[in-house]
Amino acid sequence: MKTMAAILLILSLVGFFSVPAFSDPDALQDFCVADLKVSNDTPINGFVCKPASAVTSDDFFFDGLSKQGDISNTLGATVTPANVLTFPGLNTLGLSMNRVDYAPGGLNPPHSHPHATELVLGVQGELLVGFVSTSNVFYSKVLKSGENFVIPRGLIHFQYNVGKGNASAITTFDSQLPGVVIAASTLFGSKPDIPDQVLAKAFQVDEKIVKAIKSKF
Ligand SMILES: *[C@@H]1O[C@H](CO)[C@@H](O)[C@H](O)[C@H]1NC(C)=O
Repeated sequence: MKTMAAILLILSLVGFFSVPAFSDPDALQDFCVADLKVSNDTPINGFVCKPASAVTSDDFFFDGLSKQGDISNTLGATVTPANVLTFPGLNTLGLSMNRVDYAPGGLNPPHSHPHATELVLGVQGELLVGFVSTSNVFYSKVLKSGENFVIPRGLIHFQYNVGKGNASAITTFDSQLPGVVIAASTLFGSKPDIPDQVLAKAFQVDEKIVKAIKSKF
């Protein structure tokens, strides 16, 4: 019994001292519906709250993910976000969600989220989902309806519709605003742009090729 008590004590101490790995900080109140109209010159790691007396049930409701997004674009995919900017009720609550729709062959191109881990849920169709680790290993799966794949925070990943019909997915994040770095447009479409010589050297190609890629962004 003494051994058991010692084990329990050690386990509880480990639990007490381990650092929680939440992506966003904990809130200090029940909720803080963002007032996006108020200037955020002095941000407190989130947005200013609207007065609780002005908060209604509508602030906790969002129907923006109920419809398919427009998939008639170059990539054949579109992301509809339910994050603090579109759904201010999420402010300080530490989570958000996107709906992604894909035409056949549609691609949500390689990108990363600096502030969040992502959990992908296949809803319709067949999606090749993959990420590359910092050891340069590519991990991937083809997701069908009801299946999950998790993308660790900050790693480059994509989803590609490999099925015959349209596809869709719901992605959830442990941040109210995961942030997104789209690899192609970040490198080839920044303002001002990265010098051609830098990209030519990095990708070991001619500067003409760099210019040709830049012209697409
Ligand atoms: C795929 O989505 C497009 C755009 O909404 C729609 O026109 C088309 O009918 C859909 N295809 C199928 C097979 O549902």
